Amino acid sequence: MTFRLIILGGGRMGAALAEGLLRVEWCDRADLLIIQRGDEKAQVLRDRFPGVQVATELSADQVGPETGVVLCVKPDYAEGMARLCSGVGVTRLLSVVAGLSTERLQACFNGPVAVIRSMPNTPVLVGKGVSAITGGAHCTSADLDWAESVLGAVGVVVRVTERQIDAVSGLSGPMPAYLYLVVEALIEAGVHQGLSRDIATQLVVASFEGSAALLSESGERPEELRYQVTSPGGVTAAGLRMLEGRAVRAAFLEAVAAAAERSRNMAR
Ligand SMILES: NC(=O)c1ccc[n+]([C@@H]2O[C@H](COP(=O)([O-])OP(=O)(O)OC[C@H]3O[C@@H](n4cnc5c(N)ncnc54)[C@H](OP(=O)(O)O)[C@@H]3O)[C@@H](O)[C@H]2O)c1
Repeated sequence: MTFRLIILGGGRMGAALAEGLLRVEWCDRADLLIIQRGDEKAQVLRDRFPGVQVATELSADQVGPETGVVLCVKPDYAEGMARLCSGVGVTRLLSVVAGLSTERLQACFNGPVAVIRSMPNTPVLVGKGVSAITGGAHCTSADLDWAESVLGAVGVVVRVTERQIDAVSGLSGPMPAYLYLVVEALIEAGVHQGLSRDIATQLVVASFEGSAALLSESGERPEELRYQVTSPGGVTAAGLRMLEGRAVRAAFLEAVAAAAERSRNMAR
């Protein structure tokens, strides 16, 4: 029996993707196959996704001409799995594997194959991520549309060139970590001002969510929204002056540059 979509690796990313695809009814449950090694882990997935097929190995009888495959294993296993895909006749592969170029994936196949590389971030685990995609040498716009529809089940998708993937890896990839650091620091700041940790956490997390919603729903530019809360000589201005004095803006420029450079080095 062949499948419309095969997810290779039912770990955090693969399972989140399956969850999102089923939520948006991207395909019938019976059209989805997850390959997860180890009987115990496979059974956990069967229990979590009733009606979805879960197998411990990829085989040629699961792959038809229309089957798309999503590669969701750790980088160390990715090229081995891609070679396996080549052996069973896969013609369209979407990779979420960090740091692995379309060229290296393509080299795992015996012939031309549509390889799409993506860089998602961790909020895909709750269906609110952002993923950048880029197509390899043999990709058509239909292949990119397909990849966009798959990753669209777990968040927003943007298209970039492969050269830009390292910039994405420095910006939106680690963005959750950058923002959590800011959240942590602000909670600590609230505690230093005499608030309980619980109250400080509520104030910071709710402000974080509300500010993000205001930014996306108002359509205003971030600086415009910042001007609106910065009265001349007021409380917010005093806080912002301190942040600018400590070069927080420059620190973010440097952080993204360092992360992008690290991504470039890892890909070599
Ligand atoms: N998690 C994220 O938010 C995120 C964000 C961006 C990119 N990514 C990328 O997504 C990929 C997967 O990350 P993850 O966090 O989902 O890793 P993970 O939780 O370890 O999931 C990978 C799964 O693949 C299974 N697997 C490995 N080799 C296999 C094989 N030969 N046959 C069948 N199953 C196999 C693993 O089983 P075992 O446990 O037995 O090894 C594991 O369950 C990585 O390449 C990462 O770069 C992840």
